[in-house]
Amino acid sequence: MQPSANERAPTVVLRELGPDDVDAYRPLRLEALQDAPSAFASSFEEESEREPAATRERLRAGPESATFGAFLDGGLVGTGSLFRLPRRKERHKAYLVGMYVAPAARRTGVGRALVAAVLDRARTMPGLRQVLLGVEAGNAPARALYEAFGFEAFGYERDALIVDGVAYDEVHMVWYLPR
Ligand SMILES: CC(C)(COP(=O)(O)OP(=O)(O)OC[C@H]1O[C@@H](n2cnc3c(N)ncnc32)[C@H](O)[C@@H]1OP(=O)(O)O)[C@@H](O)C(=O)NCCC(=O)NCCS
Repeated sequence: MQPSANERAPTVVLRELGPDDVDAYRPLRLEALQDAPSAFASSFEEESEREPAATRERLRAGPESATFGAFLDGGLVGTGSLFRLPRRKERHKAYLVGMYVAPAARRTGVGRALVAAVLDRARTMPGLRQVLLGVEAGNAPARALYEAFGFEAFGYERDALIVDGVAYDEVHMVWYLPR
């Protein structure tokens, strides 16, 4: 017997986003900032005032940055970005930012697939040596996800973010490319 539509395993498709994905990306980004305000340095208020054209530009593919999207049954449910530092002395470093999976799609491997895609891209960047990130100290799911990939904590910043008057600490983590 064939499985019915809702018995079928959901199909997650991962791909790099570009400017034409802005209409899917922007609402998910705004959702992320509302759903998990202590997980991001950007705020919902600031980002909702940003022109869609600026967000479009941020999604423009380039050799030094990339945003990956995870689509579940055609809808965007997760994102993760890599951003390489531009200055000569820091060009060997990139940041993993904007990791978000919509609540309904969590715990199904979407976050892991996004981090894997970001690190695969990091491996293709000539001269890149390390990928850095900051994670709220109390964010156990995200810390476990990054640790599973071999990210190591190297610093602890008290009061890294203040959200609606509440201070949040941040753990700084690094992952080194094999040399
Ligand atoms: C953190 C986040 C991206 C994880 O996404 P996800 O799709 O649920 O993660 P996955 O299903 O791929 O899980 C991969 C691993 O992450 C860890 N993990 C994920 N959710 C977890 C949870 N609730 N508790 C403990 N570990 C968790 C586990 O190690 C897991 O591996 P396992 O399933 O073999 O145990 C998601 O919870 C999220 O978007 N949170 C809100 C935004 C946020 O915190 N972003 C990070 C900013 S630094």
